[in-house]
Amino acid sequence: MSRINESVTDLRRRLARRVVECAKNGMTAAASSVRHEDVAFFLDPEIYAREYRQFFRESPLIACLSNELAEPGAYRTFDDAGIPILVTRGKDGKARAFLNICRHRGARIVRNECGKASRFTCRFHGWTYDTAGKAVGIPEEDQFCGYIDAEKHLVSVPAEERHGLVFVQTTPDSIMDLDAHLGEFGQELETLNLQQAVPVLRDEVNIPSNWKYTLDTYFETYHLRSLHGVTFGDLFSSLCVFETWGPHHRYTFSPSSICDWVNMPELDWPVDSLPLQYFIFPHTVLSVGSVSPSGSTITVHRMFPKSVSELTTKIALCAMQGVRSPEHLAEIEASFAKIMHATREEDYSVTGESYLALSALPANTRFPVGRQEIGVQNFHRNVQTRLGQDGAMDRRRLAQSAYL
Ligand code: FES
Ligand SMILES: [Fe+2]
Repeated sequence: MSRINESVTDLRRRLARRVVECAKNGMTAAASSVRHEDVAFFLDPEIYAREYRQFFRESPLIACLSNELAEPGAYRTFDDAGIPILVTRGKDGKARAFLNICRHRGARIVRNECGKASRFTCRFHGWTYDTAGKAVGIPEEDQFCGYIDAEKHLVSVPAEERHGLVFVQTTPDSIMDLDAHLGEFGQELETLNLQQAVPVLRDEVNIPSNWKYTLDTYFETYHLRSLHGVTFGDLFSSLCVFETWGPHHRYTFSPSSICDWVNMPELDWPVDSLPLQYFIFPHTVLSVGSVSPSGSTITVHRMFPKSVSELTTKIALCAMQGVRSPEHLAEIEASFAKIMHATREEDYSVTGESYLALSALPANTRFPVGRQEIGVQNFHRNVQTRLGQDGAMDRRRLAQSAYL
């Protein structure tokens, strides 16, 4: 249950009580049974085509943080979902989004990644638009088209700012219902004060892998000791608390020192070292203080598939309320170097090198998704339920077995 005006420290303390309870009882979040996933779930281009349409064209995506569009006139281009989008903050402070496509003959209007402007002029024939997407200047207008009507304005796409995040839906004329999408998870995001998150360092990883196959790695602690043994595997135990809000979730990981907390007075618990991970369906993971013990950073990972077998992940390390000092910047840089090393050389390395070999497996191969991989189970179930394909994979496998 969410609490209005709860601070992140209060939230961590509340969650720490549950983690300590789990440690006392030797329990961790777990599903009631093992799930089995057909390997085709990660390989089938038809399934991917439906996922892309439903999750990356007709669902809210996070285009940027509010602070990346800080003042009126600020703009950013957002091409990651495969559609050229221009995100602006108007004179009225409102965030808007448009197809970055000129209404004269389709040229790309804004070509740089970000900046500040009150007007955008297409380089092809010089049509000019304001930050609300309105065509405000057409060279030789009288001889060209007589007058500027609504058809000359940019094509808008749904955009809305909530909880320090700018959400965009990449299909014009589609309905974006953020209340329905986020539900009570919105209140959980509000607790994080993302309005104060300032991106300091950015990177991206491109791998030949399926977006779900890669995202699964974020949703289980089973691999920590093995894959991250020499980086940060020793810092955490595999014990965790897992909560869901519709298709979204929050993981609370346990520091490896949790057994010491059991015998400590609650006020002495170092709750700010408790890592929290939020998943905003379908493509964003927020890691709160997973490396920085001061809890002053949030790492934003946004997954963007390019095809069934190609993925780009955009990663940004944000300082809450900005960088406070040279020492703070040094801590942020050191944290980011560790995060990127583990991400590239461990998580993405294993999924990138493994994915292409999956097609060599017999078509009816299934992978077990263990009971303690409850986050992976939940994610797969949500994807399949939303595609209306729950049970379809089982039926297909049974049909194959019957044929064999
Ligand atoms: S295509 Fe933009 S002004 Fe002609
Ligand atoms: Fe990992």
